[in-house]
Amino acid sequence: MPETRDHLTVVTHPLVQHKLTLMRKKDTSTASFRRLLREVSLLLGYEVTRGLDMTTVRIETPVTEMDAPALDGKKLALISILRAGNGLLDGLMELIPAARVGFIGLYRDPDTLKPVQYYCKVPEALEDRLTIAVDPMLATGNSSVAAIDLLKANGAKNIRFLCLLASPEGVAVMKAAHPDVPIVTAALDDRLDDHGYIVPGLGDAGDRMFGTK
Ligand code: URA
Repeated sequence: MPETRDHLTVVTHPLVQHKLTLMRKKDTSTASFRRLLREVSLLLGYEVTRGLDMTTVRIETPVTEMDAPALDGKKLALISILRAGNGLLDGLMELIPAARVGFIGLYRDPDTLKPVQYYCKVPEALEDRLTIAVDPMLATGNSSVAAIDLLKANGAKNIRFLCLLASPEGVAVMKAAHPDVPIVTAALDDRLDDHGYIVPGLGDAGDRMFGTK
C-alpha cells in the first residue's frame, strides 16, 4: 500500500521502486530513462487518480444487464509543467485518453531567482475538473507553487500534484502555500544540494529524458 502522511503519498509499490532505481543510475541511457519514466507514470497515474468521482451506467453484457461503474463528472485536466512534465504526461494521457491537457512554462529569473511565466495554456472550465499538475522533480517547490497559483487563478479548485521525486524542502514549501493540494510521488529523497538538485536524486530530469546533456 502507498504510504500517506499529511498531504503526501509515497508510492512504495515494488515495480515503481525498482524502475526508479534504474532511472537513478547515472549510466542509464536516454532511451531507457524515457521508457522507464513512461512505465512509472502509468503506475503513479493509478495512484493519483484514486477516489475519482464515480457513477453507474446501464450496460448489457453477453449474459445480462447490469449497472456498471464508470467515471463521473467533467473530463479531468492534466497540466504539464514544462519541460520535464512532458515525460510524465505521455503515460498519463495513455491511461486517461479523454483527459484535457494544458501546459505551463516557467523559468527562473537569474536576478530574483523567482519563477517567471512564459507560457500558459490550460483547458476551459478548470473549476469543474479534477486538475492534475505534473512535474517529475519537486525540488525547491518554487515553480510548483507558482504553477498551482496559476491554475487557481484560472479557476482550478480541486488540484493534485504528481511528481517522481520530492525533496523535504519542496514538500514543505508546497504544503505552506497550497495545503489543499495532495502530492503523490515515488520517493521522498534526503535533501537539496546548493544548486537546488535533489539528493540522491537522478540529476536533471529534463536532460536525462531528452538527452540534452
Ligand atoms: N530539477 C531536476 O531536474 N533535478 C533536480 O534534482 C532538481 C530540479
